Amino acid sequence: MKLGLLPLLACPDCGGGIKFAELGHDPRMNEELEKGLLACASCGARFPIENHIPKLYPSGGLDFQNRKTKKRFGWEWKRYPGSLDEDRGVFLTETQIPAGEWKDKLCLDAGCGMGRYSRVALDLGAQVVAFDLSDALERLLPRALEDRALHLVQGDLFHPPFKPAAFDVIYSLGVLHHTPDTRTAFGQVAKRVKRDGRLTVWVYGTPGSYASFSGNPLRGDRQWLAPLRPLIWLIVWARQILSDVLRLVTTRLPVPLLYLLCYPLAALGGVPVVKYLTYSVHADFRVRLIENFDWLAPPYQHKHTKEELRGWFAEEGYEVLSQLAHGVVPKVGVLGRKP
Ligand SMILES: C[S@@+](CC[C@H](N)C(=O)[O-])C[C@H]1O[C@@H](n2cnc3c(N)ncnc32)[C@H](O)[C@@H]1O
Repeated sequence: MKLGLLPLLACPDCGGGIKFAELGHDPRMNEELEKGLLACASCGARFPIENHIPKLYPSGGLDFQNRKTKKRFGWEWKRYPGSLDEDRGVFLTETQIPAGEWKDKLCLDAGCGMGRYSRVALDLGAQVVAFDLSDALERLLPRALEDRALHLVQGDLFHPPFKPAAFDVIYSLGVLHHTPDTRTAFGQVAKRVKRDGRLTVWVYGTPGSYASFSGNPLRGDRQWLAPLRPLIWLIVWARQILSDVLRLVTTRLPVPLLYLLCYPLAALGGVPVVKYLTYSVHADFRVRLIENFDWLAPPYQHKHTKEELRGWFAEEGYEVLSQLAHGVVPKVGVLGRKP
C-alpha cells in the first residue's frame, strides 16, 4: 500500500477517516507498505494491510453468500489466462469513454477481478484504485509495486471504504449484479464520483417486456437481426429461464466439480452453431472455460433492463450521456455525468 491512497479511504463501518496504526515510523510518500494496520479515526475499527494490500471489509464480516462470491471469483480470476490484445478495445467500448479522456483521471475500478481493465486504464494514463471483494487482485501486485499510479484495495461494494466524491471516473464492468442488491451497490458507487465526474456501468440484461426489448440498441454488425426481434425475444427468454434453472444446481456444486464440468461446455463452445447453447463463444478455449464458470458459479446474478439502469442514474442525480449497443442478449450499459 502507498501513502497516496490514504486520503481516499474511509471507514467501511462509519465513514470516518483512516489513519495508520502501529506503523512504528512515518511512512514516506510512495513507500510501499507490505504489512501494517489501519484504524478509523472516528470509531477505532482496525483493518490490516497484508501482502501490500489493505483489507477494508466491514467489521461485521461477510455473510455466507458474499463469502461464496469472494471464493468463487477468487478461484475464477486466478485461473484466467491474463491480459489479452482485445482488452483495450473491449474496455473503450464498454466504458463508452474515448481513449483521450483517461489521462490523469483518478479512477476506481469497482470490481476489478484480476485487473485486466485496471491495466488498460493505467496504460491510457489514468491513476487507478483497483478494488475487489476477492483476492484475485493479487495478480496486479507486481504492477502495483512498480507503478505509482496503481493502488489495490480489498473490500465490499456494499460498504465501500472510500470517501464520498473521491473519484473523477468510476467504472464497474459486469460487477454490480453479483452483489445481493444491484440498486444498493449502484447507489454506493454513484456517491463516490466527484462533480462533473463520470460513472460508467454495465450489468447483465434481461429481455424484459417486448416493448423494452424492441427498443434495445443493436450493435452495427447485428442490425440485420432487427426484423426478427419478436422471435429473438422469445429465444432469449427461453434461454434465460433454462439458465436460471441450471444455476439452481450449479451455484450449489463444489467449485472444483463445477470447474471440471465447464471443460465439456468450453469444448462445445468451439463447435459451429452448437456453441450458442453454451455461455461463451470466445475463440480461446481457456477464456471459454472461465466464461462458462463465470456464468454458472456466482451465487448472485441479477438481470436488469436499460430502463431500470437509466432510472437509477436519474435517481442519483446523473445526466445520462450514452448507452451501450449490444448483440441479441441484452448487455445493459450506461455512461453518466454527475452535474
Ligand atoms: C464478472 S467479474 C468482473 C471483473 C472485472 N470487472 C472484469 O471485467 O474483468 C465480477 C467481479 O465483481 C467482484 N465482486 C462481486 N461482489 C462484490 C462486492 N460486493 N464488492 C466488491 N467486488 C465484488 C467479484 O469478486 C469479481 O471479481
